[in-house]
Amino acid sequence: MTVIPEVPDKLPFAGTTIFTTMSALAAETGAVNLGQGFPDFPMSAALSDLVADAMRAQYNQYAPMAGWLPLREAIATKIELLYGCRPDPVTDITVTPGGTYAIYTALTTLLQPGDEVIVFEPAYDSYVPNIIVNGARPVLIPLTGEFRIPWSEVERQVTSRTRAIVINSPHNPTGSVLHPDDIEALTALIHKHPLFIISDEVYEHLVFDGIPHLSLLRYPALRERAFVCFSFGKTYHCTGWKIGYAVAPEKMTTPFRKIHQYNCFSCHTPVQVALAQYLETRDAYLQLGAFMQQKRDYFISLLQSSRFDLLPSSGSYFVCARYNKISELDDAAFATWLTRRHGVATIPLSAFYQQKTDSGLIRFCFAKKESTLEKAARQLCAV
Ligand SMILES: Cc1ncc(COP(=O)(O)O)c(C=O)c1O
Repeated sequence: MTVIPEVPDKLPFAGTTIFTTMSALAAETGAVNLGQGFPDFPMSAALSDLVADAMRAQYNQYAPMAGWLPLREAIATKIELLYGCRPDPVTDITVTPGGTYAIYTALTTLLQPGDEVIVFEPAYDSYVPNIIVNGARPVLIPLTGEFRIPWSEVERQVTSRTRAIVINSPHNPTGSVLHPDDIEALTALIHKHPLFIISDEVYEHLVFDGIPHLSLLRYPALRERAFVCFSFGKTYHCTGWKIGYAVAPEKMTTPFRKIHQYNCFSCHTPVQVALAQYLETRDAYLQLGAFMQQKRDYFISLLQSSRFDLLPSSGSYFVCARYNKISELDDAAFATWLTRRHGVATIPLSAFYQQKTDSGLIRFCFAKKESTLEKAARQLCAV
């Protein structure tokens, strides 16, 4: 008799993500979707034209494994302009199919079974599964106050097995950003302990109110220990393109590329050719913070008369809201009720905690057209 083998389940706790669930509920009910983080306005036609041009010019075969060199050079130039250091395009920059893949590959490069990785909650949903799939253990530390890192708690949780720490600024889902004292604390930590850093900076350009983005690439002591991960999808309003890059010193990039070359090997060539040219249009990324800040401010002003209390958001696509003046439901039940009853889909913050901790908060994505924000706000003000 033929024995059908069991398919192992490496992530038994994982199901359909809340983003898929809430987007499906929004589609089913016709709700305005302020849940999943993606823009609903068009991307630059100039950039999509460049992709079409590259395809017509026959840039349609495999790109080099580490990325189209002119693109890596353009990325190095942008980093130099913004953060004052120029990573070597040949040895330190790898183009990847998105920021999430860059983070996964970085963790896979670093982790051995039994290692521990410090992750702050609420956390972007890929970090913990990425760690577990590698046989390592996430050490979950809650952010405190206005979603800041409790550094003394971090110090208490570091053990001889701690291999890495994951940092995300601007932060999804809360919109908090790293402050200079966080940089000081992180620097002190890595001087004391042999840790690597994964820095998720996919929202690097979406920082508001004149605050500078404190990329770890600005700091020599930090960048020599860090995989810094970025996403063109977030920068150029094309999240469906899934293209990004990782920056790390050569001694970290070399083993990273060994994983990458046997996984996806190389990324979409015409998109890389187009991005290399489009990066010359500096305003397209330099004006992004002001553009998105306007959306944040507009959304906040529209909700002024609502019963939601919006928390501060200094960056990203997101602002969180407390709804205790409206309901005592837990956040997941409230988000479902809000979608079905008032036609606005959001994400409950519990989705960003492994234990589904209910903090009485929901997350709005404001990277939307004015008309979308207005429609959502009309419905939210009626709650
Ligand atoms: C914090 C964070 N990191 C990474 C990503 C994913 O970037 P990409 O779509 O380039 O994989 C997202 C997307 O939502 C995100 O919010």
